[in-house]
Amino acid sequence: NGVSHIRESDLGPLVDAFYARVRGDAALGPIFNDAIHDWPDHLKKLTAFWSSVMLASGRYKGQPVAAHMKHKARITPELFDRWLLLWKETTDDLMTPKAAAALQAKAAQIAESLQLAMFFRLPS
Ligand code: HEM
Repeated sequence: NGVSHIRESDLGPLVDAFYARVRGDAALGPIFNDAIHDWPDHLKKLTAFWSSVMLASGRYKGQPVAAHMKHKARITPELFDRWLLLWKETTDDLMTPKAAAALQAKAAQIAESLQLAMFFRLPS
């Protein structure tokens, strides 16, 4: 797990830097900029999310699948690749190699399960 080499205090600056890049990205930027009206709140929520995921802090309570489903019409598997590339670049730039690798592996897992939920769920 990531607990030993990621500090809580690293996560806020990491999340801020990541979403700055996302907002400036030609493909991802418009989706986020249209959807998110309170950026300080989004950045706080995503910092809590990563704290919960990597440090088991329990700080995030939410429904990521439902949140992304709202934007299903604009989100494609290719955009997930783009998201993961920006996450890789940002974590490589800001974190130690061990922490970056753990954050990248976790993001890839979550991206996979979000995509399964969004695009490949069988009709019930
Ligand atoms: C929220 C877009 C991938 C984690 C959001 C929102 C958008 C968005 C527009 C705001 C939803 C709303 O309230 O209207 C995208 C796009 C992605 C992507 C375009 C890739 C193509 C990911 C991945 C993760 C993630 C891979 C996790 C590793 C979250 C979380 C929230 C969120 C935790 C907050 C959900 C809540 O409101 O509790 N995303 N996302 N997203 N995203 Fe993503």
